[in-house]
Amino acid sequence: MAKFNLTINGKSQTVDVDPSTPILWVLRDHLDLVGTKYGCGVAACGACTILMNGNAIRSCVTPVSAAEGAKITTIEGLSENGDHPVQKAWLEHDVPQCGYCQAGQIMSAVALLESNPNPSDADIDNAMNGNICRCGTYVRIKKAIKTAAKS
Ligand code: FES
Ligand code: FES
Repeated sequence: MAKFNLTINGKSQTVDVDPSTPILWVLRDHLDLVGTKYGCGVAACGACTILMNGNAIRSCVTPVSAAEGAKITTIEGLSENGDHPVQKAWLEHDVPQCGYCQAGQIMSAVALLESNPNPSDADIDNAMNGNICRCGTYVRIKKAIKTAAKS
């Protein structure tokens, strides 16, 4: 076990865990931030996507030791009231179906728009490629990203 000082959603947090613990489990089991989901555990589905220093990462395969000193943002930290432009666009287009993949989809979309505020279709496809949706909400996701880009 070791102590790690983390900055999560703008708040300082200390956890005492095995250094190899994936950040996903630190968020869910130690900090009660359960918006980030477990899908595959092997970086193949995107359900666990969070932002580390603004970049989309797979929290299921990123050890907590890699997060010290970094700025972590989870779905809970995007906005106080669910009114981040990407969340608003998601609502406008009624994107989710079962919802399980959607926190990861939104975090990948936020990372995309922060680095590329006016993405082409190809840019969107490329950035969202690793986020799987078994309900097939891909068309609405793309529309919502375009709406968010305009706002
Ligand atoms: S749970 Fe992390 S990519 Fe699937
Ligand atoms: S909305 Fe069900 S898996 Fe994406």
